[in-house]
Amino acid sequence: MARNFKKALLYEALQLSLAALGAAHCLVDSITHRYQPVPSSVPPPQLKDGYAVQYFGDGAYLITDGSGYISLFVATTVGGILVDAPPYNWPQASHNVKTIAHEFTKEELIIAKDPNRPPPDVTFTGDYTLRLGNQTLELSWKGLGPIHDPGNIFIWAPRQKILMLVDMVFPGWVPFWGMALTQSTRDYLSIHDQILAYPFDHYIGGHGKSGDRTDVTNNRDYIADVLANCRTAILANCRTAILASATNNTEVGVSQIVPPFLTVNPNNAWGEFMLYYTRVAELCYNLTTPQWENKLAGQDVFSFSHAFKAVGDMSLEYGVLGPFGVI
Ligand SMILES: *[C@@H]1O[C@H](CO)[C@@H](O)[C@H](O)[C@H]1NC(C)=O
Ligand SMILES: *[C@@H]1O[C@H](CO)[C@@H](O)[C@H](O)[C@H]1NC(C)=O
Ligand SMILES: *[C@@H]1O[C@H](CO)[C@@H](O)[C@H](O)[C@H]1NC(C)=O
Repeated sequence: MARNFKKALLYEALQLSLAALGAAHCLVDSITHRYQPVPSSVPPPQLKDGYAVQYFGDGAYLITDGSGYISLFVATTVGGILVDAPPYNWPQASHNVKTIAHEFTKEELIIAKDPNRPPPDVTFTGDYTLRLGNQTLELSWKGLGPIHDPGNIFIWAPRQKILMLVDMVFPGWVPFWGMALTQSTRDYLSIHDQILAYPFDHYIGGHGKSGDRTDVTNNRDYIADVLANCRTAILANCRTAILASATNNTEVGVSQIVPPFLTVNPNNAWGEFMLYYTRVAELCYNLTTPQWENKLAGQDVFSFSHAFKAVGDMSLEYGVLGPFGVI
């Protein structure tokens, strides 16, 4: 269950660094840049002997070394199960370790050729029940499409009511960069229903801290707000929409911002789009901030990236064309 950023990360990084050129609040060009302080609701882990441990009962633990990764450890009568261990020097430790992952993860790891992340010993394609000693974990690939990583699976500990799904929801925080590096905003939103379909008490997202059902509904509501605000920001440009008067909005109105831009950058269509998407994402960010700045950590860090991702997906996945629709 290794994490897999690679292509998606590079792609998003490129997109966002381009966007950053145009939007002051998302551009961190200084190591002394000061964001909102991280609220006390998401404290740093209290390490003891290099690790912090949280016990959920029935032999299940959250374990972290403070590096930002959190793993699930399940003690059984015949050994332990470690779920989503960070990249680790396996070869020296691997004699008695068996790794299990989705078939797609194996393919990715074969391509990665990383000695610290060898391909798994056992793979599966749909569902897999992992029984070891007195413990059971139910692994499930929902086939939603490329959500973050093709082999990303649900890991369900039924007795302890713990659900683990890595890199989708980050309790206490807004998602990581660009809708948690998912390919599809629509799929990302719908995954919350699949998470909430499990009767879990504890959610582990692989980073930060464990959470509960409220953390998942908060994340869902936050994403829904970003999408609604992006729709509003785009429609501020649409001459046929209810917000017709906003066509002349001097911040985002195409008729206002594009002509002067083109006098400086003649015939530069890509530049024109970059300006438009950046401005619309910034308006979306501006609309989202008052709703969420005191609720989720990192709002001022990554909300622009979510808005930037959403304004693109609005036309591709939601049919919101704004000024580029038929008018
Ligand atoms: C299973 O065994 C482990 C190790 O003895 C123990 O810590 C755990 O509580 C047991 N869990 C269940 C669900 O029986
Ligand atoms: C927008 O501005 C143009 C002139 O710049 C004007 O002709 C038009 O009526 C304005 N539209 C709206 C909806 O205010
Ligand atoms: C967003 O808010 C900032 C700060 O108030 C403002 O300077 C900027 O013009 C706003 N951007 C848009 C696109 O409305």
